[in-house]
Amino acid sequence: MNITVVGSGYVGLVTGACIAEMGNTVYCVDVDKEKIANLKQGILPIYEPGLETIVSENHASGRLHFTTSLSEAVEQSEVFFIAVGTPPGEDGSADLRYVLEVARQIGDHLTSPAIVVNKSTVPVGTADLVRAAVAERLEARGVDVEFSVVSNPEFLKEGAAVNDFMHPDRIVIGADNEHARQVMSRIYAPFIRNRPRTMFMGIRDAEMTKYAANAMLATKISFMNEIAGLCERLDVDVENVRLGIGSDERIGYHFIYAGCGYGGSCFPKDVKALINIAHQIDFEPKLLQAVEARNEQQKHTLFDKISAHYGGNLGGRTFAVWGLAFKPGTDDMREAPSVVLINSLIAAGAKVRAFDPVASDTARREFPEAWFAEEKLQIVEGQYEAAIDADALCLVTEWKPFRRPDFRALKRLLKTPLIIDGRNQYDTEQIAREGFAYYGIGRKS
Ligand code: UGA
Repeated sequence: MNITVVGSGYVGLVTGACIAEMGNTVYCVDVDKEKIANLKQGILPIYEPGLETIVSENHASGRLHFTTSLSEAVEQSEVFFIAVGTPPGEDGSADLRYVLEVARQIGDHLTSPAIVVNKSTVPVGTADLVRAAVAERLEARGVDVEFSVVSNPEFLKEGAAVNDFMHPDRIVIGADNEHARQVMSRIYAPFIRNRPRTMFMGIRDAEMTKYAANAMLATKISFMNEIAGLCERLDVDVENVRLGIGSDERIGYHFIYAGCGYGGSCFPKDVKALINIAHQIDFEPKLLQAVEARNEQQKHTLFDKISAHYGGNLGGRTFAVWGLAFKPGTDDMREAPSVVLINSLIAAGAKVRAFDPVASDTARREFPEAWFAEEKLQIVEGQYEAAIDADALCLVTEWKPFRRPDFRALKRLLKTPLIIDGRNQYDTEQIAREGFAYYGIGRKS
């Protein structure tokens, strides 16, 4: 099959590469000329395990093409995936500008029957807007071409994107006709050979499913963070509570880790967008608002603990930060708790020495240049280097090398043996034996 994927970000690039891997011819289109030029040379805009190999192999074999020209791709394709960004507008609503622009351009060039698939996370009803945008441009050209619009939300996780796409939990397809359902089934058949798991539903149902999935996961996290706040004040260890409740199959162990807040390009944006959708229809989303508020507060919790420990006096102190990415396995720092922590520490007059196994370059772009020039913020190349003469160590992202550090070396390097653990990685008894003062999230101190 010949397929076009518009948008070469996380979702678009992974979708394009994985679909090409299954023998299809795929055109990846992006307006960013530099991104496309780099992709042609095998340079990827993101770090994602396994992606570089399938991109370069499929590009070399002639199945995966990169272009800035949608018109070139349109002539060759029968299916169009829209996988462009839907960033939050000022009020939190999903900005559909890019999605609808792509729809118009498809309408500008389409000459034969096609299926337009929405992979971007979009509010309920967006398929109607996409259909109208394509139709408007076809009409303007006086062309009558049949096309369907399908909602096919993506559930991949950053850091495991290729694996998630290759071995999906489920394929959700919102379509209103049999032909579209059949074409979508053909595309996904190779990914679900051993266990069919395609769910067909209405287009609006599929659009809502995506928001509901992310909102549910965000809710579990904020719920657990709230329980952690209670535990901390009641001399209870949330880690024991987590094990105790996770063993109930109805609750499960996934996404109940208390921490310093959820980040990334999806949960914060999608929860805000769903709140906005609710407001637009005069529905009070009480629970979602609380999920969002708890998370905002949670991102300040590491700073609050540090500040309380030093009686608010952080001027002239240096803090080691382990982990900058919003989670392990990615170099993405969008909405990362590390950003809130570092901004607060520097605003309070402290210095920061940070280490992340892959997000150093992202961090250099994220923070003001002056902070590096004035050495308020240093990004160092090793986890122990970050600790040299620091007043305390803050663990923000639970990368594997941080899980069992050399505590003796750490104790030697730090000015004072104090660890603030934003991901509850350490055993409180062991850490006390090693001679450290310790704050976790919802732990006994
Ligand atoms: C999330 C969803 O997990 C994917 O299913 C979805 O497809 C994706 O959003 C999307 O909409 O594109 P992702 O943002 O890559 O994926 O990251 P997650 O692994 O879900 O982690 C999100 C955040 O929650 C991280 O900051 C993580 O540290 C935090 N988290 C996760 C916790 O604080 N506690 C937990 O128990 C689990």
